[in-house]
Formats: sequence, structure tokens, C-alpha cells
Amino acid sequence: MDDRPLSPHLTVYKPQITSVLSIFHRITGAGLAVSTTLVVFWIVSIAMGKSTFIGFNNFLDNSIVTIVLVSSLWALWYHFCTGLRHLYWDMGYGYDLKSVAISGWAAVACSFLLTFLTLLFFVI
Ligand code: HEM
Repeated sequence: MDDRPLSPHLTVYKPQITSVLSIFHRITGAGLAVSTTLVVFWIVSIAMGKSTFIGFNNFLDNSIVTIVLVSSLWALWYHFCTGLRHLYWDMGYGYDLKSVAISGWAAVACSFLLTFLTLLFFVI
């Protein structure tokens, strides 16, 4: 390999709401694919009987898994809200810069609000 310099690509762009939310949509989509596996294991542990289920619940009962699950909950709501935004665009609406910024910030705000409400009503 030679040491010729690479032309700059991603580094020349200033982060903007459009690009940052898009990157997070992809990251949360990939992250959800992983955390959904954990949920599937949990459901399978129910089918495998009481002792497996209790053992798996004990394994899940620690602060690292709690952080992972709460992050995944936020990722699900974020991906859901930005996903609806994508579907709105697919119908041909909301492409002007002002609408893109408003729908972007609204999606971020809704994702945190829905995470908080889910924790409040279904978890805590
Ligand atoms: C556990 C559930 C989900 C998983 C694992 C998942 C995963 C993914 C992944 C990996 C992508 C590709 C991202 C990329 O390459 O940029 C994606 C895209 C997408 N997801 Fe999801 N998703 C989930 C739930 C949802 C939900 C509930 C919605 C509904 C609002 C949604 C709407 C979308 C849309 C519209 C796209 C395409 C975005 C584009 O055109 O670039 N997803 N999803």
C-alpha cells in the first residue's frame, strides 16, 4: 500500500439535522435488529419452562442490561417516528427545508416523550 493522501469525503460535511437524523435512523434500525434478538431469546425462554425463564430473567436483571433495554426502547420510538417521517416523504410531502427541520425536531422530541411515557405507564 502506498501513502498517497485520500481525498476528503465525509469529513468535509458540516453535521446537519438532515444527515444526523438519517445516520441515526440507520444506526437505530441496525441496533433494533440486535435487541429484537434478545426479546426473541426471552420469549423462547418462556417456552423452555419455568426454570429457564427464571434463569434468563436473573441474567437480565442488572444495570448494564437495563441501560441496553432503555436505549433500545428509545431507539424503537426514534426509528418509529423518523420512519413515519420517511413514509410521509414517500407520499411526496414535506421536502422544503423548513418542513424537514420541523419534522426532524418533532421526531426527536416525540421519541423522548414516547420513551418517557412508555417507562411511566408500562415499566416503572
Ligand atoms: C424492531 C423493529 C425494526 C427494525 C429491526 C428495523 C430495521 C430497519 C433497518 C435496518 C433499516 C434500514 C436503515 C438503512 O439502511 O438506512 C430500516 C429502514 C426503515 N424503517 Fe425500520 N426497523 C424497525 C421498525 C420500524 C418501524 C416500526 C417503522 C415504522 C414507522 C420503520 C420504518 C422504516 C422505514 C420507512 C425505513 C426506510 C428508510 C429509508 O427509506 O431510508 N421501521 N429499518
